[in-house]
Amino acid sequence: MKGIVLAGGSGTRLYPTSLAVSKQLIPVYDKPTVYYPLATLMLAGIRDILVISSPPDLPQFRRLLGDGGSLGLNISYAQQDRPNGLAEAFLIGSEHIGPDSVALALGDNIFHGPGFSALLQETARDLEGCALFGYIVNDPQRYGVGEVDPAGRLVSIEEKPNVPKSNRAITGLYFYDNDVVDIAKDIRPSARGELEITDVNLAYLAQGRARLVDLGRGFTWLDTGTPESLLAASQYVHTLESRQHVRIACIEEIALHMGYIDADACRRLGEKMGGSQYGQYVIEVAGGWPG
Ligand code: DAU
Repeated sequence: MKGIVLAGGSGTRLYPTSLAVSKQLIPVYDKPTVYYPLATLMLAGIRDILVISSPPDLPQFRRLLGDGGSLGLNISYAQQDRPNGLAEAFLIGSEHIGPDSVALALGDNIFHGPGFSALLQETARDLEGCALFGYIVNDPQRYGVGEVDPAGRLVSIEEKPNVPKSNRAITGLYFYDNDVVDIAKDIRPSARGELEITDVNLAYLAQGRARLVDLGRGFTWLDTGTPESLLAASQYVHTLESRQHVRIACIEEIALHMGYIDADACRRLGEKMGGSQYGQYVIEVAGGWPG
């Protein structure tokens, strides 16, 4: 399975913070936002990852992540000229996807919870059509909203409905088989002028090939599109990290844990950032923390 991190968009809701820097490079507490979706793909076992962003921002992502080799990844880059919608990722990324299945992770989505890596790997392995990840929220009208029947099967999806049929948001992580490229080619811009991911998902739903994976109550899903949500995400990460002395979305730790790099390589990555607490943590992880 290939991976795509979609990290473009205009970030207008974060102005002036995002006027001169991509919103996915703004920190969520101790690391750039893009580390979180990258970590999600790595935990799914995906190593071949395309980062899509706007032309002025792409060089900064390249500077941050390079070719991914030091993490045992293969990271490449492509530009999205304008924020034409999430489904454009499959058109821009069609060569990267090739004959494979693909996972799309939105650049501002943070996932954290027990058993996440196993859940992702299982979902990727059993993929037929598409898999969407649902999460109960207080404010579903801000998101794609999924409705399920009593047996838990997905029956409808609506993009930001005024009157949501449920509280189940469709989160910004999507697994698709290779048909997604052809499906995306047939999507037309919505009333707001975007190629909607919800229309891609509806095409799978119409074929009876859209599976919903619910993320349960013990799970955390956050996005970082507004100053409030960015602060809430930073506070969440800070609280957990300081209480347990673990780090969420530490990509060096995940690379080690997944067997993409060995302890020596991990230590070297930590030493390069040794002046920060994050770097010190990477060194500790290479030495066996938390045991
Ligand atoms: O966060 C989950 C939600 O993401 C889903 O529930 C919705 O169904 C889905 O449409 C999307 O809604 P948003 O309105 O929150 O998407 P937003 O425009 O904020 O874009 C999400 C991320 O993708 C953000 O990091 C910016 C980036 N992006 C967005 C667009 C439209 C791009 O890179 N290119 C784009 O063309």
